[in-house]
Amino acid sequence: MDGNGRWAKSHGMERSAGHLEGVNTVHTITQAAGELGVKYLTLYAFSTENWNRPQAEVDSLLNLITYALEKETPGLIENNVKLLIIGDVDRMPAEARARLDRSMEATANGTGLRLIVAFSYSSRWEITRACAKIAEEAAKGELDPATITDETVREHLATAPYPDPDLLIRTGGDFRVSNFLLWQIAYSEIFVSPTFWPDFTREEFEAIIDNFRGRERRFGLTSEQINHTLWKDLINPQCERVP
Ligand code: FPP
Repeated sequence: MDGNGRWAKSHGMERSAGHLEGVNTVHTITQAAGELGVKYLTLYAFSTENWNRPQAEVDSLLNLITYALEKETPGLIENNVKLLIIGDVDRMPAEARARLDRSMEATANGTGLRLIVAFSYSSRWEITRACAKIAEEAAKGELDPATITDETVREHLATAPYPDPDLLIRTGGDFRVSNFLLWQIAYSEIFVSPTFWPDFTREEFEAIIDNFRGRERRFGLTSEQINHTLWKDLINPQCERVP
């Protein structure tokens, strides 16, 4: 969700005004995703590196994210959305953490869209933590290092219960991944939009999904193999196609 700061600057406003406006886009895109039948929507709301921004911006972002999630919770319940968090939430101030936990509990029975908010998240934090957990299990004799596969690593990531993303959208025009789901996006389709997040619309979101539907995903195989039914079962089972 990049471009909030630049959006605010282009309107002669403080950066925090851009984040506030960005919450409206979160509402619009979450609703659209649910209606379009998207099963999982992961939003990168606050990175590990964002803790190093000026304290006033960190405080305002923390307040905004917890306030927005709390305010949106009745709507999430109504729309059958289940709210989930990935990231180092232990770094969050206790009160904000408690409010977040309440929102998650309140939506726990949702069977529709999984809205995964990446908060205090970075891929390097997640992969390092996975390595530490695997090493600990090996040291305790619970895991034989010779049996470690990419599935072992996957099972130790914060996203273990969820499939890999089919599509990664970055707004704000920068062609970089910025420490986001590095393991999980190995075969994701990537789309960079020049639009600043506060100006991102449902129409643009739908157009990107249409573009995604037209792409041939080969997962390292050839076009012929992909179109042969026998191979279809071998394609990364974590990746689910949008119908
Ligand atoms: C990046 O823009 C955006 C963020 C660091 C924060 C995004 C968070 C929200 C929109 C609130 C999300 C709320 C919920 C409830 C999930 P930037 O500040 O890096 O923009 P710039 O690149 O233009 O400076």
